[in-house]
Amino acid sequence: MQGLLVVGGSRGIGKAIIQKSLNTRAIHNLSRNPVDIEGVQHHSLDVLQDALPSVEDINSLVYCPGSINLKPISSLKVEDFRQDLEINLIGAVKAIKHYHKGLKKAENASIVLFSTVAVAQGMPFHASVAAAKAAIEGLTKSLAAEFAPKIRVNCIAPTITNTPLAAGILRSEEAIEKVKLRHPTKDILSAEEVAALACYLMSPEAKGITGQIFHIDGGLSTLKI
Ligand SMILES: NC(=O)c1ccc[n+]([C@@H]2O[C@H](COP(=O)([O-])OP(=O)(O)OC[C@H]3O[C@@H](n4cnc5c(N)ncnc54)[C@H](OP(=O)(O)O)[C@@H]3O)[C@@H](O)[C@H]2O)c1
Repeated sequence: MQGLLVVGGSRGIGKAIIQKSLNTRAIHNLSRNPVDIEGVQHHSLDVLQDALPSVEDINSLVYCPGSINLKPISSLKVEDFRQDLEINLIGAVKAIKHYHKGLKKAENASIVLFSTVAVAQGMPFHASVAAAKAAIEGLTKSLAAEFAPKIRVNCIAPTITNTPLAAGILRSEEAIEKVKLRHPTKDILSAEEVAALACYLMSPEAKGITGQIFHIDGGLSTLKI
């Protein structure tokens, strides 16, 4: 059974990916807090500060840590941009560099990264996170080319999704209704919906897909209705 390594599986989309993969894959999770799911090999660490562990026999890597730091540019410090780049991009680069050799030896190896709808669709107050996630989209395409044909690399760009990261935005029934109405599909994404796309991208059925950015955003980045 080839293994899945999730960076950031203690909650949100990463945890939903683990739940969907439980019975079919050996799973390793790296995060600061443990994941409360039996059968997962958990490694407690901060991906930016700590050395990453050796993990045998994985063919999939998913990097989930990210940020939603929404402020006008006048309130954003240069340091905010640095921190967003660190957690969104540099942590992913560190994990990919560390596990690249092992992935290269595996069958149907793949990497899934996360962007945001705010790269394809300009949105006020998203300068810092959009810049960091645009870097992830560039990384996705570059590495997909560099790693072909051994490791597929894809990226998911969700709109606001009901996870702890978005709790500040989805803080009331009224706020949730407003978010729903902004989307052509008039709904809010769940962690499970985004996780289902990630699991598909890692599966053998997706062996023809690499270097792509998947917009799971209720039509927000492409439709005007
Ligand atoms: N939710 C949304 O609305 C939304 C929208 C667009 C894009 N995205 C992107 O989708 C991805 C997943 O989002 P999410 O909502 O599932 O996020 P989340 O709920 O904040 O979960 C993030 C995971 O990353 C881990 N993590 C964070 N910092 C870490 C660090 N320094 N070292 C190790 N682990 C760390 C967290 O665990 P610990 O705290 O235990 O370390 C947690 O397991 C992110 O890249 C996010 O930017 C999300």
